[in-house]
Amino acid sequence: MTDVGRTAESIRWELDDEGVVTLTLDDPTQRVNTMNASFRSSLASVVDQLVERAPSITGVIVTSAKETFFAGGDLGELYRVTSENSAEFASEIARLKSDLCRLETLGKPVVAALNGAALGGGLEIALACHYRVALDTARSRFGLPEVTFGLMPGAGGVVRSVRLLGVEKALASLLLQGQQYTPSDAASLGIVDQVVGSSEMMLAAARAWIVANPDAVQSWDRRGYRIPGGELSSPSIAAILPILTANLRKRLKGAPVPAPHNILCAAVEGAIVDVDTAHDVEAKYFMNLVTSQVAKNLIHTMWFGRRSLSAGLPGGAAPPPMVNRIAVLGAGMMGAGIAYVSAYNGIEVVLKDVSVEVAERGKEYSRRLLATQVARGMLDQGQADAILARIATTSDYPDLERSDLVVEAVFENQALKHEVLRSVEQVVAANALLGSNTSTLPITGLATAVNRKSDFIGLHFFSPVDKMPLLEIVRGEQTSDDALRRALHFAKQIGKTPIVVSDSRGFYTSRVIGSFVYEAMAMLVEGISPASIEQATTQAGYRVGTLQLCDELNLDLLLEIRNETREGQGEAYHRHPAETVLERMVDLGRSGRLAGAGFFDYDSAGKRVGLWPGLSAHFPMRRDPATVDLKELSERMLFIEAVESSRCVEEGIIAPADANVGSVVGIGYPSWTGGALQYINAYPGGLSAFVDRADELTRRHGHRFEPNLLLRNRAASGDLF
Ligand code: NAI
Repeated sequence: MTDVGRTAESIRWELDDEGVVTLTLDDPTQRVNTMNASFRSSLASVVDQLVERAPSITGVIVTSAKETFFAGGDLGELYRVTSENSAEFASEIARLKSDLCRLETLGKPVVAALNGAALGGGLEIALACHYRVALDTARSRFGLPEVTFGLMPGAGGVVRSVRLLGVEKALASLLLQGQQYTPSDAASLGIVDQVVGSSEMMLAAARAWIVANPDAVQSWDRRGYRIPGGELSSPSIAAILPILTANLRKRLKGAPVPAPHNILCAAVEGAIVDVDTAHDVEAKYFMNLVTSQVAKNLIHTMWFGRRSLSAGLPGGAAPPPMVNRIAVLGAGMMGAGIAYVSAYNGIEVVLKDVSVEVAERGKEYSRRLLATQVARGMLDQGQADAILARIATTSDYPDLERSDLVVEAVFENQALKHEVLRSVEQVVAANALLGSNTSTLPITGLATAVNRKSDFIGLHFFSPVDKMPLLEIVRGEQTSDDALRRALHFAKQIGKTPIVVSDSRGFYTSRVIGSFVYEAMAMLVEGISPASIEQATTQAGYRVGTLQLCDELNLDLLLEIRNETREGQGEAYHRHPAETVLERMVDLGRSGRLAGAGFFDYDSAGKRVGLWPGLSAHFPMRRDPATVDLKELSERMLFIEAVESSRCVEEGIIAPADANVGSVVGIGYPSWTGGALQYINAYPGGLSAFVDRADELTRRHGHRFEPNLLLRNRAASGDLF
């Protein structure tokens, strides 16, 4: 290569003897490339050079020196954009867009050589190239996931994906849900043109394409170009648009999330105007989202919060050892799932139940999940067989020898748990970490069964284990720092997001979700129609209605927990209005989906068919659904979990970042809020307005809404959670 001297800060320039310029994205200050100020000024500088020297250039290859091609927007920078400083940022974005447009209209072929993942801004750069060659690596992913942070592509991603794929495909497959694709799936979708097996092949393919296409331009810059799938005025697209809008409404159910709406508008409005105007339209909708509170909430929790989890915990001299062999006790719903995720992540599993037959039934769960993965092309048969072969089944304790981690998941019964924990400690490795998946029993109490109490810890998974990303790690009174570190390391090994909580009734997640389901049942007692309750829940942004959730959680279990709590608290126990509903439903044999009857009716295949009409006989409707204040019902759901979370922080059960992440990722608190405490932080009018409203809800509905001292103090001092 020659002419290496014109490098800009974040982009290396190399011009070879054939006149091909290779632009290598390589931010010197970061592990990954992002669309930060350095990138933007580097791009402007290299594009200036390209334009100036275009006559002597054959073509351009854009690639990266990092493991990924490009990570996307700089979330820290986006987080800092406010309505006060947005004009400056908008002009930066306008310049970036114009530089990418100058690149694609250079008059020379421009090829993206995608050596790794290109997400968000990374794919936007690639879309501004004329051709995309992707290296087939296991971790490469392509997509425009901005919507998951309450944002949308702002560097031409909407404009170009719509022109490349058509309005419907771009919206449904890329923009509205932020899907991420493997190289081969990205090629099937049409956002990647060629997939190759090595870096050399990638660069060779890029060069070959440059040689074969000296006059390359974007398809939409050619005469006679038509948007794939049809123009907006064509009958086929005209028929699809209302369906897209309706589907979006159905999915969002009225939740206050602006990003999908802005994306839809930018795609549709942008499709009926010329490219330059489409970029302006995109910019307008993008800036509206960048400054929105929802985007701030999502970035705050799902990016910064997630990254800060366990940051304040004691460090160790060396990273804890990897788990090689795990003993899972109980092959029921949870044990089967824990065995699956462990084996999937390379850990040898011994799954123990009362008989080999029962344990084999648990292993069958993995077999089924793996078959689905093979059918979907996500694993080949050999990989699936290897994963399954890691799971051994048994009914005998001696087979658990050498295990370096135990996860106990037998019935929720303290005496039984004590018995199995005592037995297992004798046979596993002498330093094995001893974990329990109990959802309610105090960890310190369970630890009394074992000798090594400092190695005992709660590892609370969520159902279904393969899908739910959270792991609630519970520190008992005697759990050591080392045990905690090992548990966190295990979470990482199996790809779960850990939150750390201290030992108390319901830990964090069960306690807070309990307050939520009780609130819905209290509304039934007040005479509010069940349909209104469900609607208010989904309008608040929860994925499913609360009564539906009660059916899934199972009212028998909720009643059992209530009984234990009441017994545990003795005189201090306060009856909640929801308990009347809970007791009545269980008496009626309608404890939820498992029983085939709950707040909803189910058909013989277990499918939910509708709200049980008999509810009105037991809980007469006294409030006209037409006049009921849905907004207040929604707020009651959001407030009760927020106040309960604030109490958990005050009691030292959980740190605010863990509560935010745990509430969203573990128990379905609406993600647009950024979590149960960020909801308080961002409440319109601030913490003091939140406290005023909580006081009002207390007057209207009871002491459960009463702000705790910590919350009042923070409201007074203006200290956010
Ligand atoms: P499950 O009833 O589906 O399974 C329990 C299994 O333990 C059964 O297969 C049973 O045969 C087995 N078992 C009983 N005695 C045993 C023994 N001596 N040795 C080995 N296995 C024995 O229960 P599930 O739902 O899997 O729950 C297990 C634990 O996980 C409980 O502590 C529960 O509270 C907790 N949990 C449950 C969640 C859920 O959504 N179901 C969520 C999080 C935690």
